Amino acid sequence: MVHLTDKEKRMLEGDLGEFRGKAMEFIVRYADVLGAEELVEVSRATLFIGAQRYLDCYDPATDYGKIFSEFYLCSEKALDFARFAEGCKTQTCAGACDFAEYRRSHVSKELIDRNWSYLQATKECGVKIVESCTPYYVGWIPIMGEHFVSTESSNVVISNSVFGAMGNSDGVEAAVCAAITGRTPKWGMHVRSGRRATCLVNVECRLETAFDWDLLGFTIGRLMPKHVVPVVAGDFPKPDIDRLKQFASSIAVTSSTELCHIVGVTPEAHTLEMATDGRKPPYEITVSREDCVESFEMICDKGSGPVDYVSIGCPHLSLDELKGVAESLRGKRIRRGGELLVWTDYATKSMSDLNGYTRTIEDSGACVLTGSCPVVMREDCHRHATGMAINGAKQAFNIKNQTGVPVYFGDIRECLNAALLGKWEKRTWKKS
Ligand code: F3S
Repeated sequence: MVHLTDKEKRMLEGDLGEFRGKAMEFIVRYADVLGAEELVEVSRATLFIGAQRYLDCYDPATDYGKIFSEFYLCSEKALDFARFAEGCKTQTCAGACDFAEYRRSHVSKELIDRNWSYLQATKECGVKIVESCTPYYVGWIPIMGEHFVSTESSNVVISNSVFGAMGNSDGVEAAVCAAITGRTPKWGMHVRSGRRATCLVNVECRLETAFDWDLLGFTIGRLMPKHVVPVVAGDFPKPDIDRLKQFASSIAVTSSTELCHIVGVTPEAHTLEMATDGRKPPYEITVSREDCVESFEMICDKGSGPVDYVSIGCPHLSLDELKGVAESLRGKRIRRGGELLVWTDYATKSMSDLNGYTRTIEDSGACVLTGSCPVVMREDCHRHATGMAINGAKQAFNIKNQTGVPVYFGDIRECLNAALLGKWEKRTWKKS
């Protein structure tokens, strides 16, 4: 049975309100299932909430207070909304749709309005509307040792690995209850010993571009044993945050990894010994170029073919990436009848507007959208596509569960090329 502080006991007994009491009941049950002996204070959270498609089981006319109580707090009684934990900086993850662009993103106006009304309800409780799967681009940066919760798997990997913060890949209900109570079970990544590297990954492939890092993440995730903490070692240039973003998103597709040390790059792995606490890791794998090419063939459909739906921005693009897209599209037009969707978050789009990148991109016929993506918006938004090109391994791999049309996977340049030509051109692998 988890040990609670006096404040936590009062919360559980409902002294701080029924809303928080119900959330605390959930956290205590969660802790008991995990075998955690105590809770930790959580000071940052990102939540996958709003009118997400997982709520499609409810009639849209249902009161959101009832939905929220039932779905997130397991309460049959519809509770009044109340403030989330004051000490926890909470914001929304990737959302159900763009804020306003229903025509160009192919969702209903009803969904846009409902998403906005749900987000307003939680905003009144202290949850900021951000709608980003890359919250670190816009200031949500947990510092070393800070405890967080996040429902975005790539953000969990980035926050643990790159920032040295401490958090698990929680389910959406557990993360919501943690943000309401400001507590989560002290277990897994929240405990120092759970962060020790247990699988050495020797990298023997070229690692230069963001695409290389995307494929590496996917490949490590599928080749390493389950439930290990990997540490990557090899002779490669230091990756920047855009490369690490691709890596973090794809390793979390093929594995349950929450933390991946990279020797000489991440803060708990200045050396291999530091990451392993000086112990010999029980597991060791080597990743070759052939392994990465095999991953590519698992994600990208074969050959060349017509493409009329191109989505880039998985995970959401940084300002630097938007600048690069604008430079590539300057003075060009995408193929008539096709569409090019460029995904970022709202704050980054505002900076892109300011710099004129959005104008340049949209002059090509493309559309800059915020806060969501085709995988999260699901089938309705891409049902009309007859051939798709996508830049992130996470999105390209997952969208195959939602469509029967060819899905091609490549780097941003290849995807832009597909939008301009209306055709995917088979990738030719250079000799390494
Ligand atoms: Fe973000 Fe969607 Fe990719 S939520 S990480 S853009 S699949």
